[in-house]
Amino acid sequence: MIEQPPWPYASAERRWYGMGRYYAMFPSRFAFDAINGLTRAGDRVLDPFCGRGNAPFTAAVMGRPSLGVDINPIAWLYTAVKLSPDPKPGRVVRRLEAIGRAARTNDRRSRSGFETMAWSPDVRAFLKAARRELDWRFSVTDRTLMAFVVHHMQDKRGHGLSNALWPTIACSPHYAVRWWAGHGLTHPPDVDPVAVLGDKIRRRYAYGTPSQSDGKAVLGDAASVLQSHVSLVAKLLITSPPYKGVTDYWNDHWIRLWALGQSLKKDWKRATRYENQNVYCNLLKRVFTQSKRHLTDDAFILVRSDRRHRTAEICREILQQTWPKKCLFIRKSDAQFEGVSMYHGRGGSKAQELDFLLVSDNIPIWMKTAGFVECYDRLSYLK
Ligand SMILES: C[S@@+](CC[C@H](N)C(=O)[O-])C[C@H]1O[C@@H](n2cnc3c(N)ncnc32)[C@H](O)[C@@H]1O
Repeated sequence: MIEQPPWPYASAERRWYGMGRYYAMFPSRFAFDAINGLTRAGDRVLDPFCGRGNAPFTAAVMGRPSLGVDINPIAWLYTAVKLSPDPKPGRVVRRLEAIGRAARTNDRRSRSGFETMAWSPDVRAFLKAARRELDWRFSVTDRTLMAFVVHHMQDKRGHGLSNALWPTIACSPHYAVRWWAGHGLTHPPDVDPVAVLGDKIRRRYAYGTPSQSDGKAVLGDAASVLQSHVSLVAKLLITSPPYKGVTDYWNDHWIRLWALGQSLKKDWKRATRYENQNVYCNLLKRVFTQSKRHLTDDAFILVRSDRRHRTAEICREILQQTWPKKCLFIRKSDAQFEGVSMYHGRGGSKAQELDFLLVSDNIPIWMKTAGFVECYDRLSYLK
């Protein structure tokens, strides 16, 4: 059974929750249940590795001001737009049409086999104009439109702007070209990008935009951001750090990152799979230590981790070192990947995850019903 998001299909919350394909995202029920059980309206919520923003978005629509931080511009874009989309769809559509007009003849040219097979000349021209013209960092309208562009530029054939591509993880250009050729898909679909995106914008805005508490997304390394660029006092830290040696969030988004100004290729200097144990430990130590400064003394800390020993054990150790006075509880999760990963990514398999919950002496009732048990020693949770 796949968990369904907590909002009805015909609601602004559900429509905007779905914005942004992102690998390894939280199931919506995970964030919703925890925020419901561990906070009250008005309490602040922090997610220092926020990905596509499921936790900060869920918190904000539940009346909890939130802060999400992520180092990946794609994650930041989705989170920032979900927390604060342009409230006027007409403005986004007018900007879309302006970008369509800004495309130059030269923009239709392809510079690689990948470009030729991925997008039609009209789509290529549109994407290059969007890349050049949209001020996604500073303008809310441009940012909202850019979120639609990157969401739909890499999709299943017939669903968005591209030839057949995994909607979540971007495969290598050589693999894509070989795969298209082998499946007789050498010609990208001939679509009108302004018409396709106009339709996507109308559907997303069908129920307006959600009413939300203040939500903020910050782009950058969470440790540096939390050290000097933000002030908040949160009652809940809810997060999921990268899993050690599993996902390379930079190169898995190389196609979409191109739309935000990077080059159209993988960049191994930016690879972030955290294979190295010391580098991984250091990341968790720095981010949790800086997060601690922004939490109330009785704050709850809920961290979803990979159940595999190498990640789980490092995570447990660092959490206990950072919050030695709190009690640690754990829960194994067998929830299946929901939504985006399930339907479009490498879904279908069981998630092998482990939730760590740190509490002071204020044991919440929710914790017992949610299946947490106390963790006494380093190995007990792996049995
Ligand atoms: C497991 S994902 C989080 C997914 C998220 N829970 C969601 O629902 O989408 C881990 C995230 O940590 C981010 N990350 C890695 N290193 C970071 C750092 N130093 N500072 C902030 N974010 C970082 C990655 O870009 C990635 O988006």
